[in-house]
Amino acid sequence: MKRGEKAILAVIVAVVLGLMGRSMWHLKSDQAQQGDQGIPFYSTASELVGRDALALIRDNGCKQCHSLWTVRDVMQAVPAPILDGLGSLRSEEWFFQYFSATNPQAILPSRLKKQYRMPSYAHLSESQRRLLASYMASLKVKDWYLAETRKAEYEKLTGKTYPP
Ligand code: HEC
Repeated sequence: MKRGEKAILAVIVAVVLGLMGRSMWHLKSDQAQQGDQGIPFYSTASELVGRDALALIRDNGCKQCHSLWTVRDVMQAVPAPILDGLGSLRSEEWFFQYFSATNPQAILPSRLKKQYRMPSYAHLSESQRRLLASYMASLKVKDWYLAETRKAEYEKLTGKTYPP
């Protein structure tokens, strides 16, 4: 290798190392800014319940309107409440009654046009509705994000800013 080539190589190596170092430094400082709190949502469901419930949720198109684990079907824009963390706001029994209602809007009024409202899932078998209710109740939020979750739910349900 000629002297000139060596010099060029040295410059390239220095630039690459510099860029790598810089992006690692940015990663570190991003983490530092967010603290160590991480994602506030978690589920207390067993792996089996989680798997079966998520299959039901997929088969019934819940994510056409709701996001869950911060994911929803990309083409949809229904302003339905986010499902993550709702188990810290409502009870398993409430979810079961809600999924079993022939008119869910009698339990939770809607501000939306008919085609965007929560559909009735009374046609599902009792064990399927119980499974959904049990999974929904398992979707918890950590205390530090509870107020934020309640605010987001209120705003989605009413279209108004929280606090009322
Ligand atoms: C067509 C859109 C749509 C689909 C599909 C849908 N939902 Fe909903 N859901 C809504 C809307 C909108 C609301 C808010 C109440 C309303 O406007 O009727 C809601 C409300 C809820 C609530 C109560 C939220 C709260 O704030 O307590 C739960 C729980 C829920 N849905 C779960 C589900 C599950 C589970 C499925 C699938 C089995 C599902 N939804 C399918 C639109 C939908």
